Amino acid sequence: MNNFEFCNPVKIVFGKGMIARLSALIPQGSRVLLLYGGGSIKKNGVYDQVTNALDGYTVSEFSGIEANPHYETCMEAVTLVREEKINFILAVGGGSVVDAAKFIAAAVPFEGDPWDILCQGAPIQQVLPIGAVITLAATGSEMNERAVITRVSLGEKLNFASPKVFPQFAVLDPEVTYSLPARQVANGVVDSFIHVIEQYLTYPVDAKVQDRFAESLMQVIVEEGRKVLKEPDNYAVRANLMWAAANALNGWIGQGVPQDWTSHRMGYALTAQFGLDHAQTLAVILPGVMRYMQKEKQEKILRLGAVVFGITEGTVDQRVEDTLGACEAFFQEMGLPTRLSDYGIKVSDLDKLVEQVKQKNWHLSEHAHIDWQVAREILSLRL
Ligand code: NZQ
Ligand code: ZN
Repeated sequence: MNNFEFCNPVKIVFGKGMIARLSALIPQGSRVLLLYGGGSIKKNGVYDQVTNALDGYTVSEFSGIEANPHYETCMEAVTLVREEKINFILAVGGGSVVDAAKFIAAAVPFEGDPWDILCQGAPIQQVLPIGAVITLAATGSEMNERAVITRVSLGEKLNFASPKVFPQFAVLDPEVTYSLPARQVANGVVDSFIHVIEQYLTYPVDAKVQDRFAESLMQVIVEEGRKVLKEPDNYAVRANLMWAAANALNGWIGQGVPQDWTSHRMGYALTAQFGLDHAQTLAVILPGVMRYMQKEKQEKILRLGAVVFGITEGTVDQRVEDTLGACEAFFQEMGLPTRLSDYGIKVSDLDKLVEQVKQKNWHLSEHAHIDWQVAREILSLRL
């Protein structure tokens, strides 16, 4: 196991009816920005629950945060926060709204051009406090220190991370996920599964706690993911998926182990250029990364196959092949296409897709050996 330092300070408030706890979580007298997306919270009763709980606070609203939140929209919110002297940001929505809140919280007091936070990893000295009411189990953003923002005018989707942007609290009420469209439910299942994979599927460093925790999370996500589309109103299924998604990317399983975020990094380009949902990009790319790196990842692929998909028979090569097939079949079972051609993306589009890897001179994977040329090869496997 590698050395690490770790602190996750997010207070979790979990369960039915817990949105009512907001008044105990946000300091009295705060000037609150209620930040949300395209309006799903107005249809499913979440907006009413939140505004009732915020009775007595000075509340300003900012709506219209897009899926894959836009830098341009976030900057409009930054102006509002400065004008209204907001001192607490409450994000109510999926990962996009929580990510937007993190960026806004960092951008408001930032001296200089806030784009530098994303494109140069400029250090963040100060932030506004944020809290989250999460309505979609997927990204784990409610319990981590990362955010991903898209600058539409440049066609770039970039992430940043800072311990300063951990939410102070996150309210996780599984009942608010009942209203999600099946596509978003499936996206959430696949995204959280692949978060575990990107921290697990490298090479062993004898990190038993992290490995076995990761394996149990994947077992739960596959088991409950298979149920959730058939039983959308099953509370236990929703609760297990919601808590699994938070744990999949709250730092615990990633400590002291090598990680490989290749599928995510390459996936951002697919979203920025072709508008695929975040999880859709991962379901397309991950099978290519696994195939290209099957030798380097062999030991972990065999464990994944045995523990999560019950693949224990056959030669090593056969079990590797079966595990690759089982992952891809799982994504398809959840309703996600797994080929670039399913989205009309052709061989002539590949240059455009690897452009960011090339420009930024990225070297991805746990061995840092995936440059833009290898990225192209991996994408070619997925046409
Ligand atoms: O905008 P509204 O109207 O709220 O609708 C949203 C949106 O259209 C809808 N939705 C959310 N909760 C709902 C609901 N509809 C009905 N009922 C509910 N309860 O779902 C749509 C998608 O929402 P979004 O927030 O975009 O989805 P998700 O949570 O999957 O977030 C995706 C974003 O997070 C980033 C992705 O790149 C993408 O930009 N990620 C953030 C990470 C992080 N911060 O750690 C890690 C991830 O790997 C990921 O990259
Ligand atoms: Zn993700």
